[in-house]
Parts: sequence; structure tokens; C-alpha cells
Amino acid sequence: MMHIDLQAILNEIAQEVEPFYGKGNVADYIPALAKVPARQFGMSVSLLNGQEYVVGDADVPFSIQSISKVFTLVMAFREKGDEVWKRVGREPSGTPFNSLTQLETTGGYPRNPFINAGAHVVSDMLMDFLPNPRQSLLGFVRMLTLNETIDYDAEVAESERIHGDRNRALAYYMKSFGNIHHEVDQLLDVYFHQCALSMSCRDLSRSLLFLANHGIVPHSGEQILNESRSKRLASLMLTCGLYDEAGEFAFRVGLPGKSGVGGGIVGIIPGLLSVAVWSPELDVSGNSVLAMEALERFTTKLGISVF
Ligand code: DON
Repeated sequence: MMHIDLQAILNEIAQEVEPFYGKGNVADYIPALAKVPARQFGMSVSLLNGQEYVVGDADVPFSIQSISKVFTLVMAFREKGDEVWKRVGREPSGTPFNSLTQLETTGGYPRNPFINAGAHVVSDMLMDFLPNPRQSLLGFVRMLTLNETIDYDAEVAESERIHGDRNRALAYYMKSFGNIHHEVDQLLDVYFHQCALSMSCRDLSRSLLFLANHGIVPHSGEQILNESRSKRLASLMLTCGLYDEAGEFAFRVGLPGKSGVGGGIVGIIPGLLSVAVWSPELDVSGNSVLAMEALERFTTKLGISVF
């Protein structure tokens, strides 16, 4: 690793992705997201040894959206262990993130924790053991990043709530099967806020470093997940982290990853580093066009992936 000039690689990537502006669309199904200026690109790499490399808009906070599903799953898995899998599966869905269809044949059991239905179940689990899941989640990401200024974007959360009928439908449908235990409005208040967490690429790459480090936060030595659980979390990111494009992401990038409709994508190289990329324009599956391009170039130039 030492002989690789990571800063030079990031600078090259930032130039090479420029021609891809205009090839996707900023998420517009939630009005507060539609207002984000399209021509922005940031990338941040955190190494286990504490070094950080950034380029572009790496310190601009954005709505992390579904990337939050990694944090909530970690919190639930840490507390409940394999109990989690009684209520949510571990198979790629091959369907859009907000799809309802599979829930009918599975009796309200979501295919995995990274589609919306699965994330609702995970947040419902957090409500089982946390008096204030919103506050706990905030404390968790602030601890991981050492950034006390991270907060929820209240406008995005409210916009999600106003335009959240699909999520309401998913949650009520699962509740009818007994797989949501709490009041749907209270559950979705947690879910809409987790989507509205506002973090930068630098925050995100820092925050996920423990997953590249056998579950241990490098800066504090705190063990968040044991080695086996940390590995399992990463395997779920690989198979399910990019919805119906998980296969495409494994094919082009080759890392455990997670995306969000705010335009962020995070990835990890176990034993080495975590990386976060952000650019708001999305492809049809809801994944950032420039972030995909950047990560494909990143693993190609490094010559390292999990394969
Ligand atoms: O409608 C929602 O549930 C979103 N705010 C979900 C977020 C998300 O990032 C899903 N996909 N990429």
C-alpha cells in the first residue's frame, strides 16, 4: 500500500468522472432531495493506520439515505445477534429498494435488511431495546466519526414523512403479518430520520472503518462487532448493498458496498480501508452514476478488490 500514491489516484478519478455529469438524475421523489445541486463530487478514503485522503466535495454534508441501513443493522446485530434473522433474511432481492411484491409470498419476511422493508424491521427491533433510537443512532455515528456536529436534516426528514406513503404501506403490510411490533408512525419517525442523517464523505469513510478492521474502531479500540459478525455484515453489503444492482456493483467494483438515493456510496476493503463517494445524479436503480464510475476506477487503479 505504501508505494501507492492514493492522493494522485483520487485526483485522477475526480477528473475522469467529470464527463459523466448529466447522465443520471437527482432523486426527485422527495422534494427536499430534488433541491440538491447536481454538479458535486466528493471522495474520501480512510486507512486503518489513520491516514485520510480526500478529493472534491468530500467535506460537504449530504443526505446519507439508505447508507444509514448499515448503521441500524450494526446496532441491532450487536444487541440481538442471530435473533435478527428470525425477522429478516439474507438474500439479495433483485427488486427495487421500495418494492412490496416479495412480502406477499414470504408472509411479511423481507429478503434482506438493506431494502426498505428489511430496514423497517431492523428499526422496529431497535425500538425493542432503545428508549430513544434516534438519539442512540446519532450518538453512534458521532462516536464512530469523532464529529459531534453530525445531525439530522429536519427538512429532509419532514419531506420524507409527507411523501412516505410507500413506506407506510410496507410497514403496515408487515405489521399485518406480525413482523412490525411498534406503531407504524413511531417506527417511520425513526426510519425517516435515519435516512435524513446528514454526513460528508469524510464522515462516512471514517465511520465505516471498523467494518474493515474486524469490527474494532481503530481510533478507540472499541469492539463494535466480533470478527465473525463484522465479516457477515460485509458479506451482506456485497450481496444486497446496492439493491437490484448488487451484481453489477460486484462485477464492476468488487467490494462490499452500500448506496443511498442522496448519491452516496460507501465501500470497504477488509484489512485495509474504507471509502465513501458522493455525487447526486442517480441511475435508474437509484445509485449514483459518478460514484459507481469512481469506485470502479478506484479498485482498478489500486489493483485490489475482495476478489
Ligand atoms: O423512500 C425512502 O425510503 C428513501 N428515503 C430511501 C432511501 C434510499 O436511499 C433507498 N435507495 N437507494
